[in-house]
Amino acid sequence: MLETLTRVPPDPILGVSAAFQKDDTPKKVDLGVGVYKDESGKTPIPRAVKRAEQEMLAAQTSKTYLSPIGNPGFNAQVAGLTFGSDLVGRKGDLSLAQAPGGSGALRLGAELLIAARPGSSIHVSDPTWANHVPLLGNAGLRLEKYPYYDAARNALAFDRMIEYFDALSAGSVVLLHACCHNPTGQDLDSSQWSAVAEILARRRLVPFIDLAYQGLGEDLDRDAASIRLIAKAVPELLVAVSCSKNFGLYRERTGLLAVLSAGSEPASIVSGQLGRLARTLWSMPPDHGAAIVDRVLAQPELRQDWMTELRHMANRINSLRTLLADRLTEASQRDFSWIKTQRGMFSRLPLTADQVVTAREALHIYMAPDGRINIAGVSPANVEHVATGLASVIRG
Ligand code: LMR
Repeated sequence: MLETLTRVPPDPILGVSAAFQKDDTPKKVDLGVGVYKDESGKTPIPRAVKRAEQEMLAAQTSKTYLSPIGNPGFNAQVAGLTFGSDLVGRKGDLSLAQAPGGSGALRLGAELLIAARPGSSIHVSDPTWANHVPLLGNAGLRLEKYPYYDAARNALAFDRMIEYFDALSAGSVVLLHACCHNPTGQDLDSSQWSAVAEILARRRLVPFIDLAYQGLGEDLDRDAASIRLIAKAVPELLVAVSCSKNFGLYRERTGLLAVLSAGSEPASIVSGQLGRLARTLWSMPPDHGAAIVDRVLAQPELRQDWMTELRHMANRINSLRTLLADRLTEASQRDFSWIKTQRGMFSRLPLTADQVVTAREALHIYMAPDGRINIAGVSPANVEHVATGLASVIRG
C-alpha cells in the first residue's frame, strides 16, 4: 500500500534550516526560518519563561489529562493579551481553545469553518506564509489569493486589496495577518486597518486573523490593534494566536484559537464544536508551554520581565533593519530604505529563485526560496558579508 506514495520536496522554510545545518562553511548565514536570534546568534529562552518553567515543574503534582480545549487559565490570559480590555460586553460571545502552536490554531479554525460550511473558500494574501496553503487547504478549504504586495514598489497593494474585498460575496472568509506580515514585513497602517474593518463589516465577510508575532513589531498593544478594531466592527471573527516567537516556546507548540460569535448562544455551540474537533485532531493539546505562559502572564513580576525582554527583542530587530537597509543601499546603489519601514522578522528581497540559489551556493547566505529573509539572522558581525554579497547577486 505505501508504495503508492511519492517523495515530497523539502519544506520551503524548514528545508532551508536543514540545508543550512549541513553546510560547514564558517561564514554561512541563516536568514531562513523565522526564529528570533540574539547578539550571539542564539535563540534564547526568555528569563521569565525559564523561571516560570522551573516554578511550574516544581509545583506540578500530576500530569493527568486536562480537556480537549486545554488549560482555561492559559486561554483566558492569552485572550486578554490579544483583545485587551476591548471585549467588554462581548465576553460571552467568545470561544477559546488551546491548540498545538499557531499552526494548530489555524488548522482548528479551518476545520471549524469546514464544519460550519463544507466547501468554503478562504482568501489569503498574495503572498502569504508558505505553510498557510497546505495547513488550511488540507482541512478542505479552497484557497484564493487577494492582492496584497506590490513587489515592484516594495509596498502594499492597498487599493487593489480593497477592490478585491469589495467584490467578495457575504460570508467569504478572509485570512489577515494582524502584524509583522509573513513573508513581506509590510503591514497596514491604522487608517488602512480602519478601511479594512469597515469593508469587512459592510460586505459581511468573516475575518480569520493570524497573530504569530505580537510584540515583535511595534509593541504588544499596537500589534494587536487590528484585531481589537475588527472585533468591534464584525459579528464573527477567528483569531489564531501563536506563543512560539514572543515567548520563545517554538518547540513546545503553544497556541490559542479564539472565536467570536454573534451572541452567547452560538458561542456555546462553537465551544462544543471546538472541543469535538480538537478531540478528533489531537485529543488534547500539549500542556507544558501553555502552563508556562499562564504563569508568566498571571504573575506581575514575571509578566513585567517578559514584556521588557520582548521589547528588547523588537527594538533589536528594528535596529537590524536600519543596519541592513543602509548597508544594502550603499553596497548596491539601490534604494532599500523600505526595509526600515517594515515590521517583524521578515522582509522579502527582490531576488529571483535563481539568485536565491546563487546566494546560497556562492555566498552561503540561506533564505526562503521567495527571497524572504529573517532580519533577526542579520548581525553587526555578518552584515558586511550579507550586504556586499547580496548586492553582487542583485547586480548579476
Ligand atoms: C516561519 O515562517 O519561518 C515560521 O513561522 C516557522 C515555520 O513554521 O514556518
